[in-house]
Amino acid sequence: MKSMNKIPVLTIDGPSGSGKGTIAQLVAKKLGWHYLDSGAIYRVLAQAAIKHDIDLADEAKLADIARDLDLVFLLKDDDLKVMLEGDDVSTIIRSEQAGNAASKVAALPLVRAALLNRQHDFRQAPGLVTDGRDMGTVVFPDAEHKVYLTASAEVRAQRRYKQLKEKGIESNLSALVADISERDVRDSQREVAPLRPATDALELDSSALGIEDVYKHIMAKCGDM
Ligand code: DC
Repeated sequence: MKSMNKIPVLTIDGPSGSGKGTIAQLVAKKLGWHYLDSGAIYRVLAQAAIKHDIDLADEAKLADIARDLDLVFLLKDDDLKVMLEGDDVSTIIRSEQAGNAASKVAALPLVRAALLNRQHDFRQAPGLVTDGRDMGTVVFPDAEHKVYLTASAEVRAQRRYKQLKEKGIESNLSALVADISERDVRDSQREVAPLRPATDALELDSSALGIEDVYKHIMAKCGDM
């Protein structure tokens, strides 16, 4: 059943490094729609937990801080700035360590429940493009358009390596493959909102596709947006 809420949503889900963030931002920009990077919310929450010395397994406390998380996204030109309690955490939340911490807090059901409304609030006219793991399955199940973007672990690790390097963050390729594979297992095997394609999603393997090809596939499928 499609939405009672008439504001259109395009969800782009997939594993880490599949290129969903890049493509989601590109599509949002071309359509003039809002953009939600849901992974950044989990990354910022993990950062807040580390800052306030909260154990990454303390579900009740994490859910408490999730509810009142002082998080602001500032999209300026092509740059997404992420602020936690007034501090710019845009760079620090992109490290592999931060990604792993995010994946741990994201596995906790109370934390996910506490963040649902905050994600729904991004559904503003004229439309929303959102990327994550459970956008099409749990957060916006009534979205008009759903994409599930994947790529092999090796290709994703190489992309991540390049991205981190561009940001001045040094990393090790084989450690990245191991990290990505470990995170895939945690994200897809957790009990709540596991990473999986929605039944009505367009599934795309981007291993051998450039960003422009992925963009064309998505726009062809979602032609009436
Ligand atoms: O997309 P990302 O790599 O920034 O996400 C970081 C972690 O957050 C990821 O390992 C799993 C979690 N996540 C999630 O559980 N659900 C989402 N919708 C987005 C991210």
